[in-house]
Amino acid sequence: MKNIKAIIFDAYGTLFDVNSAAEKCKDKIGDKWEGFANYWRTTQLEYTWLRSLMKKHKDFWQITEDSLDKSMKAFKINIEMKNELLNLYKVLSPYPEVKETLEKLKEKKYKLAILSNGTPSLLHELVNSNNLKNLFDDIFSIEEVKVYKPSSKVYEMPIKKYNIKHEEVAFLSANTWDVSGGGNYGFTSIWVNRNNNVFDNLDYKPKKQITGLNQLLDIL
Ligand code: LAC
Repeated sequence: MKNIKAIIFDAYGTLFDVNSAAEKCKDKIGDKWEGFANYWRTTQLEYTWLRSLMKKHKDFWQITEDSLDKSMKAFKINIEMKNELLNLYKVLSPYPEVKETLEKLKEKKYKLAILSNGTPSLLHELVNSNNLKNLFDDIFSIEEVKVYKPSSKVYEMPIKKYNIKHEEVAFLSANTWDVSGGGNYGFTSIWVNRNNNVFDNLDYKPKKQITGLNQLLDIL
């Protein structure tokens, strides 16, 4: 892959494991923890798309709480666990290869950034709590444009700041629809397919597919 100048990462599901909050409570939630975690994530994303379409913006933290409320009702989880789950969501664990890969990419002098639906304070807390702070040049939050991915207004943010061509951005996401969103915008989108999933039919096929971020070092 030639002429890549900036490597931009999605946050939730790509750098940080969104299921790790519910997983840390699996003794209390029981076997349904994984179904619950997936339902919470799906509802959260649906709310981002619906709110953008309805032009009723709420920030990602409020959406995370709203979607948690619905999911806890749907899975009959004791409401007393709500604060524990929300607090764990603020300090999600990164995937194991993340830190070392970022360090190696940083040595190669790429611009490294996050581009995420998360609020600036959520993203800074995630990066700080996982000791990743010094590795990123920028953390772009959709709060700057108040519309969620996959709006082109979101993907435009790093292009405006770095003044580079769309295809000079390698955009990494584990979320298929986000790979399509960034790819349709013009990024060189790479799909992080950790769980052998099926890709979408949204007029874009990823330029590359990897099963862990460490493989980036071989393809760039
Ligand atoms: C994000 C969501 C899409 O971090 O995972 O933007």
